Amino acid sequence: MATDTSSNEINRQFRLAARPRGMVKETDLDYAEATVPVPGPGEVLVRTRYISLDPSMRGQMENRADYVAPLQIGDVMRAGAAGEVVESNNPKFPVGTLVTGSFGMQDWCVSDGRTIPLRTFPADVDGVTALGVLGGTGMTAYFGLLEIGQPKAGDVVVVSGAAGATGSIAGQIAKIKGCHVIGIAGAAEKCRWLMDELGFDAAINYKTQNVAEELDRLCPQGINLYFDNVGGEILDACLARIAMNARVVICGGITRYNTTGPIPGPRNYFNLVYRRARMEGFIVIDYAARFAEASIEMKRWIDAGLIRHHATVIDGFRYLPKTLVDLFAGVNTGKLMVRVD
Ligand SMILES: NC(=O)c1ccc[n+]([C@@H]2O[C@H](COP(=O)([O-])OP(=O)(O)OC[C@H]3O[C@@H](n4cnc5c(N)ncnc54)[C@H](OP(=O)(O)O)[C@@H]3O)[C@@H](O)[C@H]2O)c1
Repeated sequence: MATDTSSNEINRQFRLAARPRGMVKETDLDYAEATVPVPGPGEVLVRTRYISLDPSMRGQMENRADYVAPLQIGDVMRAGAAGEVVESNNPKFPVGTLVTGSFGMQDWCVSDGRTIPLRTFPADVDGVTALGVLGGTGMTAYFGLLEIGQPKAGDVVVVSGAAGATGSIAGQIAKIKGCHVIGIAGAAEKCRWLMDELGFDAAINYKTQNVAEELDRLCPQGINLYFDNVGGEILDACLARIAMNARVVICGGITRYNTTGPIPGPRNYFNLVYRRARMEGFIVIDYAARFAEASIEMKRWIDAGLIRHHATVIDGFRYLPKTLVDLFAGVNTGKLMVRVD
């Protein structure tokens, strides 16, 4: 039975128990206990504090190689995490250093900095910020919007999954670049948060409003940049409304992650031809060498009040499987993570 009490002797873990069929279930993960690993020469022992829940975890539970190797049944569930170096045989990572990395759903792990790459953060950054806005999803927003989306002042930018970790930051970066930003999210309070707190110009609740009609009303001249986190009908509605030379950034497609059977293609892709537009996907890890540079700029924007960030933090190791399921029901505003220490 998973407990909420951590110990210095036991390494609580969740391991892959079954490959999900359709919607991921709590029982697809199994609780286990292992001994705390001992760091060898050149290695550090990391105590995990926060574990990230990410839509891509669903794909990694399948037996399918894409941009990362698939997990095997019985493997510790892969997950990004923030933690603290508590023992160190490596002068690059002294005791007390805040690090993030792919530590998995467990309390403890060892690394020499290469076996599991470790990112370090300045002393004034806390674990939630390191794993959230300065972590993988913040970097995804930064490079996806700026490198692939190439925003220009005055552009009409539409962001789906807008109240989530990636979308909420992508939309705010677009505002910094002088764009008119419309977010699409799945709850009235999320839409209010986007407009009232984050400065989005408009927001559409895709669960209660007609997205196509709202886009017609809000973007009469068309969409210059669409940052897609969801795929499906919303991608199609945006493709139908792209402006000349538009950029469609394929960041994610959460509508497909729990789907079984064939996935319908976008019907309106041929507008890319008529509008001389570009649709391009990307994977954030390809920009890893530039994360430090991006973090400095993002931190400057945060400190200047230009980027606001929020995390939904669930307390308790045992809630990891439930929180993964809840991610797909939209439980989070901003970054979703579980505090485990
Ligand atoms: N390309 C890359 O390198 C990269 C890296 C990281 C993430 N991503 C992708 O970016 C997207 C966002 O990831 P994230 O980590 O920031 O997650 P997130 O947006 O914080 O959380 C997922 C959100 O998706 C929304 N959602 C769930 N099911 C949906 C559906 N059927 N249709 C529309 N919205 C749905 C929910 O909000 P609502 O209440 O609004 O429905 C939920 O809060 C994902 O597709 C992810 O795979 C890509």
